[in-house]
Parts: sequence; structure tokens; C-alpha cells
Amino acid sequence: MDLRLPQDLALAHQRIFLRCDFNVPLKDGVIQDFSRIDAAIPTIDFLLHQGCSIVLASHLGRPKSGFESPFSLDPIEKDLKKRGYDVHLDAFHDRDATHARSQKLNPGQILLLENVRFYPGETKNDESLGQFYASLAPFYINDAFGAVHRAHASVVSALRYFKSDHTAAGFLIEKEIKGLNRILHPRKPLICIFGGSKIGDKISLIKHFINQADHILIGGAMAYAFLKAKGVSIGSSLIHEGSMEQAEEILGLLESSSTHLHLPIDHITSPPKGSEVLASITEDVEVPADSKALDIGPETIASYSEEIQKAATILWNGPMGWFEEPTYSTGTLAIAEQIALQCESGAYAAVGGGDSLAAINLAGVANQISHMSTGGGASLEYLSGMKLPGLVNLIKC
Ligand code: 3PG
Repeated sequence: MDLRLPQDLALAHQRIFLRCDFNVPLKDGVIQDFSRIDAAIPTIDFLLHQGCSIVLASHLGRPKSGFESPFSLDPIEKDLKKRGYDVHLDAFHDRDATHARSQKLNPGQILLLENVRFYPGETKNDESLGQFYASLAPFYINDAFGAVHRAHASVVSALRYFKSDHTAAGFLIEKEIKGLNRILHPRKPLICIFGGSKIGDKISLIKHFINQADHILIGGAMAYAFLKAKGVSIGSSLIHEGSMEQAEEILGLLESSSTHLHLPIDHITSPPKGSEVLASITEDVEVPADSKALDIGPETIASYSEEIQKAATILWNGPMGWFEEPTYSTGTLAIAEQIALQCESGAYAAVGGGDSLAAINLAGVANQISHMSTGGGASLEYLSGMKLPGLVNLIKC
């Protein structure tokens, strides 16, 4: 995919509409993880060094429509100010006033629009809203990798109102596409590790890698659906509605494929109600009737680690268990550490999904991982082979 990039445009001293993904986790208005803001900085700095001014736009969370203070970009403005930027958060109520403020920007100044999802029509890809965004600046850059799978006005319809040689993808999108392409065109062996609770969220991704991956390792709650579909007793472990049927479908596809599927062979379980024991390791793959499996066990960790040690390329999406709870975090942290070690030995690994990134950070191995994707749904869809609506019009003709 040959994308138009900022250096392909005559940007010097221009005003740029820059769409970023500042959808960061917040707790009581305090930003919990700055990765998405950090990731937007190279493009922002490039534009400012070119003497540009910026109309900066992002969504945050899923407000309904209209101003809702918990979803305000106020914490983003504060963080950008702390980083030394001349940034001003636009008041959200009067489009004419916003337009007037955008036209008065001086080089080096940033007008941060309020959450684009406050604008009626943003999530409906409204044309007139796209036209409004385009009235704020003559150039458009999209660096919101996390949102390129959304056909929303600031990502799709706005592009129709800019000249095509006035639009480009930013450096984060470039980096993400390069990083994820190394998974789509891997050095072999390729090992995919999928976890998390619902197979449904990842079914296209799993299907895409059948016959592409040499090995698929499964963990997290989705593993219990596969085990149950194979007739293994899973006690009271969690299974989402529809997961069994999806697991059966995947098992069917795997039968005639060159990909080897690995499922947990032991588990860490929570004790039966009223028991004094904290957590226990199952003797084998079966989960006792009164127990709930919440993490992969030591035998599984050993066998998954052995597979990871043979990999030249690794994709990891989704935790191996309830890793937020220290008692059940061992499996996920062990996999994170093993992937990091394999990267140190020359393998390439891409990690995506908020939970897997949090696990990598918890394990303290982020610096060793080749590519940490900032996109959740966007990276899943890209790796599943889907067209991303936000990228279609940024490809060089
Ligand atoms: C994400 O967090 O995956 C992106 O910011 C997209 O958010 P959304 O799922 O609310 O569209």
C-alpha cells in the first residue's frame, strides 16, 4: 500500500486539518496511558517545523452526540500544553466561531477541536460535517490509525472536500502499516497467539491466519470454547454465547490446513465457593466441575514458550487469562516475556489490542517488542485483510 505522506505535499506555512486518535484511557479525568498521544507527536512536530498551523481533531470514547464533559478533550489539551505546544481547546457550540478561530491561526499554533463525536453526524459520516471540517484548513492529514476502520465524517467524508494532492496519511499510520505488513508477509515460521474472552471479536483474524500461520496458540476464555467443542470438561469456565459454534467452525477449517492449533493442556482455576484455597493448578486439561479456569497453567506456559522459541515472526492479540488480577496473571506475563526474549534473538513481533499492550507494559518489556500497535479494531481489521475506509483515499494513484 503506497500511501501519500506529509513529505509528498507542499505543506510549508499551510494550515492543516490533522485527525489523530487521542482515545486514551481516563480515570477521573486523568490520562492513564499516553501511548496514543506519544505516537502522534512525530507528525505534529513535522508540521510545526514546516511553519504550519494545525486544526487538530480526535474522538474520545463513545459520547452520544452533543457536549458531554467526561468525553471532553480537555485532558488532551492540558497534556499537549505540558509538552510545550501552543494549543487552545476550541469551545464546542458555534461552528462559525470555530471557523473564524481556525482562520486566525498563526504558524506554530494548534486549535484543538472538541471531541469530533460531539458533532451530530460524525459517526454517520455526514457529508455536510465533512464539508465543515474541510472549510477549516486547505490540507488534510489523517494520523488516527486507531480510527481508520471507522467510516466517520472526520475520517472519510471530509476527504471529498479537500483536493487529493492536499491529503495524506501521517507517520503513525505509515509506521503501523509497515509493522503489520511484516505479519502479513512474514518470515517463517509464523506463530499467532490469540487470547481474550470472545472468539467472535477475532474470528475473521483467526480465519485469515489458517494456512498462513505455522502455529496458532490459544489462551484466555476463548480457549474454553475450543476445549468444550473438543469434548473436554471445562467446569464452570466462562464461555460467551455463540463461541462454541465459532470454535467448531474454526476446528473444521483447521482439519484440512497446514496450521497447527495449540490449546491449553492445564489451567489455573479459581476455588469452589467457600473453599479456603486461593487458586489451584489442574492435574491435566480437564477443569473440575466446581472450578473455573482463569489462566493457562505451567505445562501450557512451557509448551507455548517452546513454540515461541521457534518463531521468526509472532503476532499476539489478547491475554491468556484474567491478567488484571495478580493471581491469574502468570500465563499472560510469561508469554509477554517469552515474546520479548524471542525479539532479542532476532524475531519480529507485533502486539495489538489494549489488553495485550497493557500486559506488555506490566511485564516491563515494551522496549524489546518490534511493533506495538496503537489500533485495536483497526489492526484486527487490517490483519484480517479488510479494506480500511479511512485509508482508501490516501493511497497514491
Ligand atoms: C479504539 O480505541 O480502538 C479507537 O480509538 C476506535 O474507537 P471506537 O471503537 O470507539 O471507534
